Amino acid sequence: MVKVLLISGSELEDLLTPEVLVGAIADAFKKFSEGATVTPSRTVMWVEGNWWGIMQSYVPGYGVGVKVVNVVPANVERGLPTIQALVTLYDPVTGSPLAVMEGSVLTALRTAAASALSVKYLAPSEAGPVAIMGAGYQARYQLRFALHYFEATEVRIFDIRREASEAFAKYVEGLGLKPVITSSPEGAIRGARLVIEASTTKEPVVLGGALEPPVHIVSIGAHTPDSRAIDDDAILKAKAVVVDSRKAVMEETGDIIQPVKSGLLNLSEICELGELVAGKCPKPIRGGGITIYKSVGVAIQDACAAGLAYKLAKGRRVGREIEL
Ligand SMILES: NC(=O)c1ccc[n+]([C@@H]2O[C@H](COP(=O)([O-])OP(=O)(O)OC[C@H]3O[C@@H](n4cnc5c(N)ncnc54)[C@H](O)[C@@H]3O)[C@@H](O)[C@H]2O)c1
Repeated sequence: MVKVLLISGSELEDLLTPEVLVGAIADAFKKFSEGATVTPSRTVMWVEGNWWGIMQSYVPGYGVGVKVVNVVPANVERGLPTIQALVTLYDPVTGSPLAVMEGSVLTALRTAAASALSVKYLAPSEAGPVAIMGAGYQARYQLRFALHYFEATEVRIFDIRREASEAFAKYVEGLGLKPVITSSPEGAIRGARLVIEASTTKEPVVLGGALEPPVHIVSIGAHTPDSRAIDDDAILKAKAVVVDSRKAVMEETGDIIQPVKSGLLNLSEICELGELVAGKCPKPIRGGGITIYKSVGVAIQDACAAGLAYKLAKGRRVGREIEL
């Protein structure tokens, strides 16, 4: 008889704190870059004009995770989340299903943990302004996790929807920080020491002309070959470009595909996050200047976060067990 643990989004919020998740995500990325995980490219399909991904991975020490995730930008108007997902976790030896968990919160947490890892390694060590480009669901997690590794003096907010900026400003105040709503991307970026792009844009919002080094850029949006969140100028000025997966970014984001194709960016110099953590980048990387972390999301993050959540939930008797 197979028993499966159901874990809700709010339970995941309590279990997967930055203190436990960032270290586990570092471990998973290291294993991924060493080739120690089983991670086929995700299957992407378009349904009713919206992006769907089926993401599967085996990360030793965590388990086999499979996530079905979609991105429905029009859900903003429906009062529904832009990203919805469900994650299932399996035992790698017996193949038995172990857990089913809410996937939107898990996605936001694991994405923020990877970004925070890049902040830990690459952001300027001195306090400074943070710029948030796209103030939706992900941005809250991105900021909260990044603040573990970067001291913000204020948080500038740029979003094309005024109501999103205003709601985010309240969130920032709740964190005890000063929010500043800006009316242009340049207004947010100029003088910022950390820029976090978490938008649904198709056109660049991280503009090289406004960047003033030292600044670290985290960019998690633009997940199709024809979309850009970062302009060519920013790519050209960057001292280092770190990505979650060289293969995935070359399949999925215009931010890397287009400058590599046009010869602006040399693929062999791009470092993976797992290589950065292991000190094995193709070209040595240190903070300072302009640095970029670009991610599209990799299934190892889901398997790792799900495996960790399952272990913690079992230990703390969190979740509801059902017999299949
Ligand atoms: N890399 C990853 O692993 C990963 C994981 C999850 C989500 N994402 C991506 O993160 C992005 C944000 O997701 P979300 O769940 O927060 O969506 P969301 O809809 O909650 O927030 C997106 C925000 O971006 C704003 N926006 C759109 N165009 C803009 C522009 N040109 N300038 C400024 N703001 C703009 C929207 O108004 C909205 O407030 C999506 O592109 C999603 O695909 C990436």
